[in-house]
Amino acid sequence: MITIEPITPQKALTLKDVRLRALQDTPSAFGSTHAREALFTDEMWIVRATLQPDRVTYLAMDGQEACGIIGGFLNLEEGPRVTLVSMWVAPTHRCVGVGQQLVQAITGWAKAQSVGRLFLQVTNNNDLAIAFYQRIGFAKTGRTEPYPNDPNLVEYEMSKDIS
Ligand SMILES: CC(C)(COP(=O)(O)OP(=O)(O)OC[C@H]1O[C@@H](n2cnc3c(N)ncnc32)[C@H](O)[C@@H]1OP(=O)(O)O)[C@@H](O)C(=O)NCCC(=O)NCCS
Repeated sequence: MITIEPITPQKALTLKDVRLRALQDTPSAFGSTHAREALFTDEMWIVRATLQPDRVTYLAMDGQEACGIIGGFLNLEEGPRVTLVSMWVAPTHRCVGVGQQLVQAITGWAKAQSVGRLFLQVTNNNDLAIAFYQRIGFAKTGRTEPYPNDPNLVEYEMSKDIS
């Protein structure tokens, strides 16, 4: 059974493992790179796994192993809005609803912060993720930005009303 669990400092090394797997598996889907984060110390992962008022991370757990991850950032000045980041499901666990469960977890957190709209950015070459987000109710806003790690790509902004 898959469970969706908020991150805690005790799960810092699980976070490290799943995040590095995500960066290796889908390099152009994220703002960061495997080369950069592979250098983070365990202390840095513990800090990252410590809950902050303006950010949250959930892991999808299959027993003791993480099979998915999602993060959310709260921005009070714009909206307020929650931006969904770091979305990844292990290839072994795709298309069985894990991604949808992870987005539901962020949606619940965002609603608890009185946020009515979720935002995210997705690279224009990621047709699978774009189809997934559209399937669960996100739509392109029309805004695009250059993708920092590859000048050939742009990022589409997508959003979803959760009010
Ligand atoms: C995008 C991703 C997170 C989807 O996760 P997932 O667990 O496979 O998605 P789910 O099983 O929850 O799918 C939810 C819905 O999206 C649809 N969907 C999922 N994968 C799809 C695909 N490859 N193509 C079209 N639709 C898809 C499903 O049909 C499902 O709807 P349904 O339940 O009514 O059939 C996963 O493919 C992934 O991790 N990709 C690599 C990392 C990545 O690109 N992250 C996004 C960064 S912006």
